[in-house]
This record gives sequence, structure tokens and C-alpha cells, in this order.
Amino acid sequence: MPEIIPIGGGKGGAGKSFIAANLGALIAKKGHQVVLVDLDLGASNLHTFLGIKNTSGGLNLFMTKQVQQLAQVVVPTHHANLSFVNSVNCSMQIANLYHAQKVKLINALKGLSFDYIILDLGAGTHFNTLDFFLTSNKSILVCTPEPTAIENAFRFIKAVYLRKLKQIIHLNAFHKVIKKAVLDEGHDELGSADIIDLVLKYDPDHEMLLRESISHFHFKFILNQFRKHMGTGLGEKIEIVCNRHFYSKFHFLGYVQFDDRVFESVLRKSLFTLSYPDSSASASLEQIATQLTGHRTTAVNLTEAS
Ligand SMILES: Nc1ncnc2c1ncn2[C@@H]1O[C@H](COP(=O)(O)OP(=O)(O)O)[C@@H](O)[C@H]1O
Ligand SMILES: [Mg+2]
Repeated sequence: MPEIIPIGGGKGGAGKSFIAANLGALIAKKGHQVVLVDLDLGASNLHTFLGIKNTSGGLNLFMTKQVQQLAQVVVPTHHANLSFVNSVNCSMQIANLYHAQKVKLINALKGLSFDYIILDLGAGTHFNTLDFFLTSNKSILVCTPEPTAIENAFRFIKAVYLRKLKQIIHLNAFHKVIKKAVLDEGHDELGSADIIDLVLKYDPDHEMLLRESISHFHFKFILNQFRKHMGTGLGEKIEIVCNRHFYSKFHFLGYVQFDDRVFESVLRKSLFTLSYPDSSASASLEQIATQLTGHRTTAVNLTEAS
């Protein structure tokens, strides 16, 4: 079964694409088959991090039905085990994907034959972005340690959480008053606490189901562009606060240091972690890649063991 790892976050510039490209390369280097999918429709730049110049074809061909299978637009990269789907020429933006197009794309992604499918999402909390973030239980939020970015990350978490609660209510037999309130287009102002209050009032028997279903959802997060003077402890604090405040599980994957050579490696069209494997940022990313893949064996592991 492929594991989907959506990489998202509220704020542009946090490093989602940088992290996606480098985690993809590090996981591929461990011997897993990885495909990176650029889903920042309208502002895609994952190809630049990967040093890929030829951006013809790509997701647009699948979305506009010029090819039938998503696998037909997957191309190899310069790196072994690492493939890519670009969205440079995509004629649609994330906000104007129709429901049917989104469902078709999510199903096609789930059907790709890879060990890991990494989705590089755009910034913002549009419900289409949230739905891609919710396609799996292995999603990663990328944020920088500045107060404004953290504020944005909380906004993103709240939006994902609310969307997930709504999905659970939609998929289960909740009281019709709750379903109507949650699914009515006019009830956008309804927050997570209001939903839980509604369940307690109209359908207390289902409260446990709601709590349990939402507790199965896991948020992982990375603090990127970390500088020494910022002091550690922030990621751990965020993890504690979120685990206390929400029913879902939060796990802090680690800090990735700010490094001036990231800019230079983008200019040189080479992947940072492969050019500077001994840097602190690369060591952190390697440690995160190991956390994400530790439970899975590769063909390389099996050969070593025999
Ligand atoms: N750890 C880092 N150290 C230095 N620069 C970084 C780091 N992570 C990202 N950047 C730079 O920050 C900018 C935004 O990164 P990007 O991945 O495009 O953000 P996003 O995808 O979240 O919008 C890029 O110029 C990138 O090279
Ligand atoms: Mg990006």
C-alpha cells in the first residue's frame, strides 16, 4: 500500500516545497520508491527545487483528460527511486477544482504504485487544500518558528480539524439537526466547539464516536528555518498545547535549521541535502526521514538481512 504524505501549512514561504523535495530525495535514497506531486496549482515551484527544466506535460494532461491514467504523467528525476509529477502548466487553480475533479485526483493518487507519495500543497486554508491534507493520516505541517507563522499554523490546524469533524459527521448517522447545521453552506461560522456542543445536545450517544474518530487523526509538524538564537523547546511546547486542546494526536518531528546554502543550492538546481549532507539542516531532515520510514523495509534492507 502506498503511504501518502501531504505537506502543508498556512503560510507561503515556510519551506513546504523545500522540505517535500528533500524528504522525497532522502526517502528515495533509503531504497523506497517515491513520487513527489506538485499540488500547489497556480504557484508550483517544486520542479525548481528538483532542478527539473522540462516541465511539459504534467498534471494538466490528466486533469484535462488528455491522458487517462495519472501514472502516464509521472516522470523520473535525476535521482534513483525518485519520480515527479509537475503542475506547471495546470490550467486550473486549487480554488477552482470541481468536487468531481478533486475526488478523481485523490483516487488516482491513491492508486499510484509507489511506496511513498509526497504531496507538496500550496499555502492557505481553502477547503480543497484541506481535503488533500486530509487524504492520509501522515500529513505534515511545515511552519517557521516566528510568532506570525505560528499564528498562521494554528489557523491552519483549526481549519483542518473543523473540516475533519465535518467529514466524520457527513460519513456517519448523526442526528439530522447536526447534519443540517454542519453541511449547510450558510453555516461557515460554525466552529469545532459549536459542533461538539450540538452533538452533546442532540445526539449524546454519538459523542464517543466523534471523539474516537477525530482522535485517530494525526498531525505531524516541522519547525523549519530554525536559527540558534531562537532556543529549543518551542516545538515540544506546541505539541503539548495542541495535544491538550484538540482530540487529534500531534507529533513534533523536529527542527530544520536555517542555512544560507539552501538559496545557493536552488540557484545551482541541486538538492540541498545531497549537496550538503553534513550540514545540520540535512542531519535533521535525515532524522525526520528515518522517523517517517522506520516501520517499513525496503528491497535494500531485505538483501542486507539475508
Ligand atoms: N531551512 C532553510 N534554510 C534556508 N532557506 C530556506 C529553508 N527552507 C526554505 N528556505 C527558502 O525559503 C524560501 C521558501 O521556501 P519554499 O519551500 O518555496 O516555501 P513554501 O513552499 O512553503 O512556500 C525558498 O527560497 C527556500 O529556498
Ligand atoms: Mg511551495
